[in-house]
Amino acid sequence: MSPLTRRQLLALGAAGAGAAAVGGAGLWWTSGGGEALGGGRELLQPEVLSSRNGVLDLALEAAPAQVRIGAREANVQAFNGSLPGPTLRVRPGDTLRVAMSNRLDAPTNLHVHGLHVSPEDNGDNPFVSIAPGESFDYEYVLPQDHPPGTFWYHPHHHGHVADQLAAGLYGTIVVEDPEPVPVARERVLVISDLTLDGAGDLAEVSPPERMMGREGQTVLVNGQVRPGATAAPGERELWRVVNACPSRYLRLTLDGQDLRLSGHDIGRLPEPVEVTEVTLAPGNRVELLVDTREGTSTLVAAPVDRGSMDGMMNGMMDGMMGGPGGGPGSGEPVDLLTLEVAGDPAGEAGPVPAGPSLRDLRDEPVEARRTLDFAMGMGMGMGGMMGGTRGPGQMMSFTIDGREFDAERTDQRVRVGTVEEWTLTNSSPMDHPMHLHVWPMQVVTDGGRDVSAPRWQDVVNIPAFGEITVRVAFDDFAGRTVFHCHILDHEDLGMMGTLEAR
Ligand code: C2O
Ligand code: CU
Ligand code: CU
Repeated sequence: MSPLTRRQLLALGAAGAGAAAVGGAGLWWTSGGGEALGGGRELLQPEVLSSRNGVLDLALEAAPAQVRIGAREANVQAFNGSLPGPTLRVRPGDTLRVAMSNRLDAPTNLHVHGLHVSPEDNGDNPFVSIAPGESFDYEYVLPQDHPPGTFWYHPHHHGHVADQLAAGLYGTIVVEDPEPVPVARERVLVISDLTLDGAGDLAEVSPPERMMGREGQTVLVNGQVRPGATAAPGERELWRVVNACPSRYLRLTLDGQDLRLSGHDIGRLPEPVEVTEVTLAPGNRVELLVDTREGTSTLVAAPVDRGSMDGMMNGMMDGMMGGPGGGPGSGEPVDLLTLEVAGDPAGEAGPVPAGPSLRDLRDEPVEARRTLDFAMGMGMGMGGMMGGTRGPGQMMSFTIDGREFDAERTDQRVRVGTVEEWTLTNSSPMDHPMHLHVWPMQVVTDGGRDVSAPRWQDVVNIPAFGEITVRVAFDDFAGRTVFHCHILDHEDLGMMGTLEAR
């Protein structure tokens, strides 16, 4: 792969500018002013479907939908007509059956992000393709010892993932904690972003926006623009936060409240950790314990610098992504939610029971070590770049170990019952949040430093020109699945590989 030349960058900018002029003309969202858009309403919770007698059986229909976003009617895509889709609550050992039907005009499928379930057949199989008008019956069997936590579901058809997520197709999965932390209430907060045009339709996404990873101009919580929530002082709430944005990183703060992190992606921490801010890459979840104090606090998402092509490219992106400062990570903080704490103080919330101690793979023998390199480069001539032989937006290559995704090729073969150490390197100027299906990863070194307490995640950030080392225990589930960048535009552009466990 050859690095970008100045001429190629200029050409990319020119290609994107036209698309952006069209997409940008009718944007109804300018900035701030949630009220003008109908913000300030009470935070809603998605419909909850819970398992009974060990089974949750449901139908999910992916279809175009008209929903109210702020003060506007919006034409989106949704599961069962609502954005987000229903929250699915299951227990370890349960069977989750989803009859998924596709009423979209593109192929789709379903992925249960973070669940430790079989990737084969009608399990969490990312190679399934459900054509428009067709349906598919999924069955996911959770092991008896499945960790509790906040997980989520979304379509995973290569080439359509970012578009379908950005259109509104996602929902939360909760695996109940056998020993739940006592709280006054739980809230699910699904954070997503999208860009609507003046007619309330999803705005066109330009090739450069795909290359950077699109960031929608409107950031939603449970499909709402800046909703409000209320609580009494001294209450403890559990917030299950899902970053369902295709590319946007979220650095969250809730000044004025006592925040503790009790879970990150999977499981529950042995002890909650006091935090003032927490950062979620796309796909990450956190569980936050909020011990409320009197006053009004705002949940704010501060921009996160996730790299750029370089200064010049960044300048172009500003022009294409809604004015100066509109590029990834360079925008203004976004107010997501207002929490008003008032009234008679509640009684003591009681102590948080200790969670089970976490497995530490640093104490276990490593069977194999591998290095995987995530890269971006000019993989073809300018003719291809400008949309000749490739799909729309394929202006440059997004690769793992120099190869674009090929569903037929098996990139990594691992042995069931072994622990491996993977060093994930990034030779590109943008961060790539790496996600492995089925098996969680324990981060062992991050930013060149050893991690102290066991840290388990299913999406880990590989910083621009940096690296991170993880260990994975391939204890069970033979089968074939994928790992990829969870900037879903990058995944759709090829930054995904296959893995077979045998
Ligand atoms: Cu959340 Cu492979 O995805
Ligand atoms: Cu996943
Ligand atoms: Cu990426």
